[in-house]
Amino acid sequence: MSLLSALSIVCGLMLQLNFSLLSAEYCVPRKTVFYQSNLKLFKEDGIFNYSTMLIRDDLGVLLLGAREAIYALDINNISVQKAAVYWRVPEEKQRECTYKGKHAEVECRNYIRTLHSLNDTTVYVCGTNAFSPTCDYMTFANGQLTLKGKQEEGKGKCPFDPFQRYSSLMVGNDLYSATSINFLGSEPVILRSSSLALRTEFKSSWLSEPNFVYMDFMGESFDSPDGDDDKVYLFFSENAMEYDFYRKVAVSRVARVCKGDMGGQRTLQRKWTSFLKARLDCSFPEPSLPPIVQDVFLLRHKDWRKSVFFAVFTPQSSLSQVSAVCAYTVSAIRGIFNEGKFKTSVAVETSHVKWVMYTGEVPVPRPGACINNVARKMGMNHSLDLPDKTLQFIRDRPLMDEAVHPLTGGPLLLKRGPLLTRIVVDSVLALDGETYNVMFIGTENGYVQKAVNFDGEMFIIEQIQVYENPVAIKILRLSSSKGQLYAGSESGAIQMPLCNCGRYQSCEDCILSRDPYCAWDSSTQQCSSVYSLSASPKTAVQSLKEGNVSQCPSPGPIAAVDLALIPGNNIQLPCQLHSNLAQVHWRFSDLHLQTNNKYYIYSRGLLILNTSTSDAGLYFCDSVEQINSRIYNRTVAVYHLQVFEPTVAVSPSPGITVTKYFIQTSKTATTGSQPDLESEDLPMAENQSDTGKISRLKVAVALLSLFCLSLIGVILWLWKQGHWKCFGFAQNSKGSEGKRPSADYTHIKNRNSEIKLLGAEAGRPCTANNNHTAVDFKGNGEYHFPPLANIASLDGLGYIHDESEI
Ligand SMILES: *[C@@H]1O[C@H](CO)[C@@H](O)[C@H](O)[C@H]1NC(C)=O
Ligand SMILES: *[C@@H]1O[C@H](CO)[C@@H](O)[C@H](O)[C@H]1NC(C)=O
Ligand SMILES: *[C@@H]1O[C@H](CO)[C@@H](O)[C@H](O)[C@H]1NC(C)=O
Ligand SMILES: *[C@@H]1O[C@H](CO)[C@@H](O)[C@H](O)[C@H]1NC(C)=O
Ligand SMILES: *[C@@H]1O[C@H](CO)[C@@H](O)[C@H](O)[C@H]1NC(C)=O
Ligand SMILES: *[C@@H]1O[C@H](CO)[C@@H](O)[C@H](O)[C@H]1NC(C)=O
Ligand SMILES: *[C@@H]1O[C@H](CO)[C@@H](O)[C@H](O)[C@H]1NC(C)=O
Ligand SMILES: *[C@@H]1O[C@H](CO)[C@@H](O)[C@H](O)[C@H]1NC(C)=O
Repeated sequence: MSLLSALSIVCGLMLQLNFSLLSAEYCVPRKTVFYQSNLKLFKEDGIFNYSTMLIRDDLGVLLLGAREAIYALDINNISVQKAAVYWRVPEEKQRECTYKGKHAEVECRNYIRTLHSLNDTTVYVCGTNAFSPTCDYMTFANGQLTLKGKQEEGKGKCPFDPFQRYSSLMVGNDLYSATSINFLGSEPVILRSSSLALRTEFKSSWLSEPNFVYMDFMGESFDSPDGDDDKVYLFFSENAMEYDFYRKVAVSRVARVCKGDMGGQRTLQRKWTSFLKARLDCSFPEPSLPPIVQDVFLLRHKDWRKSVFFAVFTPQSSLSQVSAVCAYTVSAIRGIFNEGKFKTSVAVETSHVKWVMYTGEVPVPRPGACINNVARKMGMNHSLDLPDKTLQFIRDRPLMDEAVHPLTGGPLLLKRGPLLTRIVVDSVLALDGETYNVMFIGTENGYVQKAVNFDGEMFIIEQIQVYENPVAIKILRLSSSKGQLYAGSESGAIQMPLCNCGRYQSCEDCILSRDPYCAWDSSTQQCSSVYSLSASPKTAVQSLKEGNVSQCPSPGPIAAVDLALIPGNNIQLPCQLHSNLAQVHWRFSDLHLQTNNKYYIYSRGLLILNTSTSDAGLYFCDSVEQINSRIYNRTVAVYHLQVFEPTVAVSPSPGITVTKYFIQTSKTATTGSQPDLESEDLPMAENQSDTGKISRLKVAVALLSLFCLSLIGVILWLWKQGHWKCFGFAQNSKGSEGKRPSADYTHIKNRNSEIKLLGAEAGRPCTANNNHTAVDFKGNGEYHFPPLANIASLDGLGYIHDESEI
């Protein structure tokens, strides 16, 4: 078992190395930040489904809706609960719900799905309430959350089914909602609950088994030369009517209604007269069924025409593992609705209906248009005045012929691996004076991807694991003013800062991160947030589009670490890169080292097997990273191997600073069979070069390499069949994002001796950060050898912690 797991780990490593060569690297997050327990988390025992949020900056709270509970949490630290209120389902109601065939403990509970601000003191709340949606008013005053107990009918405002997606929006005192209005969930509706309630016509040409995801408001009457009205935009997917296909195909849509709509007089009475919809296009690199919109975020611009909707799409077929983000400007969507052609249905043969472009005459006022100056000139002041001709036209033809195309023609981001679920976007003013849109995208396995698109170049700055378990992120909210991101899942809510520039410790690392929030502050020698630069920005360095590190102070010479070489021993030279996009290159006296029967290059360093005196010399570990088609090559570690001769003084080579490192071993990790590293006695070399053991290892490594090479061959062949422009090896991201170390990995981890470097220069890559250095040099002629003896058994490949550490 342990052999198998070790095998899979080693192969994982080898495959990974090879695939990073093939992948268009922008699709792989540059940095992976694993779960950190200092993340601010909120959850209450016994409460689940934290999936509704409302940020109330004015009250300093985040309102969080969960199953049968609503919380007011401190907006600066959501671990601090300021108040809570519980809204449970009465027993009788729950019984009623189970009689109707629903699951008592799952569906027959009250899931809070709606939280909308009404005014400074009151919030509108709706819950599924055991398949009997109900709404209420809630206040937050004197540190207390109070439900008013109004028990308003929630049908059409909130879904019956807690698993059904829906969307709603409060505009003034009007609630716009898109959900199912019946118990079975079969009657979809887009409803405005107001003094003049309006809804969609119940026709499959209007809505066909829709899945509603997002709604937002756009104040288009502002500064409008044609006297246009404000609008509500809605994003959803539904069964396509425009495709001739042997089975149902879903498509993504954007629809809109006008705020001032009052319905028609005779035709479309109490129905929308301004409901128009169009297909949303977001083409994936490979021909496939239309992708499905999962979430949308509206990034508002001062000029509403330039506001942009960012949408996350996932494939329709579960076979594919590619997600995308596409963006659409409000003016592009308006263009289609205001000027585009309509689709119309024509009967083909007997019962079959086909949707084609309508080429006949379009009545005036234009069907679906809001009341504007054109209509007013014709004496029509509201939709009730619209002529039947216009209304009949729109009742039968709500679909536009042309699709809305993304801003950049194609996706802003394509990512292979665990599917993307939710998105929010922040715009950041960088030092170059440009504004960058930074996307924060939740995944189905508890990660947040932080990504940007630099003039067409897709780039994932980092992926941050925000949940310990791989749960889907169900909601994301952003507070630009607080610089915080809030996420919710079944198991709890978390809060994380939008940037953590301190993660980047050197100038090069700070620049190469290409994080618009971060710049290298030369005066403090720190990677700092652009909002908190100490001195004038003149001393700060940032290079987002180019990733040009030439302005960084030239890094001093890398200190060579002296290591003793005992012929016949194995030796391990640690070197860990700071980027998932970088490749490690090892050099030894003009030789470019490759994994073979002598060298083994793995993610954390180099292993030299059965050393001899000819292996003495300088070893360089280079990090080679491709940023924007340019290669950045920097040496991150140097080792000086010298044949062990205790009497000979060490003389440093010219140009190389020799630093003396003192190594302390932690006692707990040293197992009995290993040399006693605490003692001052020289360990016997023979103990570590047991030839029998080494040859066993060599055979194992060779076999493994063969096995992995054949695997690589197969996958290379598979890869050649497709032609992904953006190929982030699925297993790669899945493996490293999703899986937690299993018991097997943990057991390998525990065998590893922890040896800590003391006195290493802070911030120097591969030294200060590395607490697994295995070889030791004290500089006083006394040498201590690492617990490499155990390496011979595969079980003891202690240097691999788990496959996620790549
Ligand atoms: C947030 O609140 C929790 C709970 O009160 C506390 O333990 C933690 O230290 C706080 N974190 C910060 C950064 O203030
Ligand atoms: C807020 O709205 C609620 C419900 O509509 C209403 O009862 C209350 O008076 C309003 N409060 C203020 C301060 O406007
Ligand atoms: C709520 O959370 C529970 C526990 O994680 C989960 O089993 C259930 O599917 C969730 N319900 C919904 C509607 O997401
Ligand atoms: C429309 O409004 C204008 C000015 O507000 C008014 O003069 C006109 O009579 C109205 N037309 C109708 C049909 O109500
Ligand atoms: C990097 O920046 C320096 C000066 O800031 C400039 O001279 C150099 O041409 C740039 N290099 C690239 C590849 O853009
Ligand atoms: C990186 O730089 C070193 C010298 O600075 C050079 O020897 C090595 O070949 C370079 N590697 C690559 C991949 O360019
Ligand atoms: C190393 O092996 C020698 C015999 O080859 C033995 O005497 C000695 O005790 C061993 N030392 C350790 C630390 O295991
Ligand atoms: C180690 O190398 C020496 C020669 O350098 C060789 O004689 C010996 O057989 C090697 N040992 C193993 C286990 O391969």
